[in-house]
Amino acid sequence: MGDEGPGDEPGVSRRPVTDAEARRASRGWWDADADAYQAEHGDFLGDVEFVWCPEGLRESTAGLLGPVVGARILELGAGAAAAARWLHTREAEVVAMDLSAGMLRHAAAAAERSGVRVPLAQADALALPFRTGSFDTVFTAFGAVPFVADSAAVMREVFRVLRPGGRWAFSVTHPIRWIFLDDPGEGGLLAVHSYFDRRPYVEHDPGGTPRYVEQHRTVGDRIRELVAAGFVLRDLVEPEWPAGHRQVWGQWSPLRGRLFPGTAIFVADKPPA
Ligand SMILES: C[S@@+](CC[C@H](N)C(=O)[O-])C[C@H]1O[C@@H](n2cnc3c(N)ncnc32)[C@H](O)[C@@H]1O
Repeated sequence: MGDEGPGDEPGVSRRPVTDAEARRASRGWWDADADAYQAEHGDFLGDVEFVWCPEGLRESTAGLLGPVVGARILELGAGAAAAARWLHTREAEVVAMDLSAGMLRHAAAAAERSGVRVPLAQADALALPFRTGSFDTVFTAFGAVPFVADSAAVMREVFRVLRPGGRWAFSVTHPIRWIFLDDPGEGGLLAVHSYFDRRPYVEHDPGGTPRYVEQHRTVGDRIRELVAAGFVLRDLVEPEWPAGHRQVWGQWSPLRGRLFPGTAIFVADKPPA
């Protein structure tokens, strides 16, 4: 495509895509990848467990959502929805949604296995099929936000479906990781891309159709998108790599984790009425 970044493989480019292109790519990618993703990460994520990130931070210790008993909670980009099921066991009223039918099939299978069932919805985070003010809390662990072109619109859509005083928490790959190759080893310690290059990473087929799209925003971009939607930022959590944690997840590894952050978790509130 002629606009690869340094170190990019053939079939990869850095170029703008529309939301429609990103949606098509994400749906196809996650449908096709769902079995492999669950085979690789399912044990780490558990069937009824809320893990925020490859560093292994759990909501049971982090408490980023605040009190959940009786709360109406929406999980975006839920994948197999282990976190939604964990919240259900904590007496929350949870709905899990995802763009991908393939990922939601794993959510249904895990519900069968565990006996813990939550409502599942197939939808796009850019057009949530829920009434204004219908949730106390919305969250996602690495879902939806990095995959849409217009993430500012996701912030507005989440703001809409939250009640006044409600909470929005989302984890993403830490923006600093954008400057490195996706390599858990020594090769992933060398800065090769500009932190300020917001062009998305696009894998495409030989005809140029995007097959996988991942977006980058700087830390400042993310904060500005939250504030512009009306949120008040409460915390930005950068989980440290725990001593003794050996599990490699893609580009997340003990080697890199002890040097710089791999995950950013933004915690924001919709102001009270
Ligand atoms: C990295 S997976 C994370 C899944 C799960 N939260 C977890 O922790 O394993 C990203 C998820 O985001 C979903 N996703 C991507 N774009 C989306 C969109 N526009 N709306 C809703 N979900 C989306 C994908 O289908 C996929 O299930």
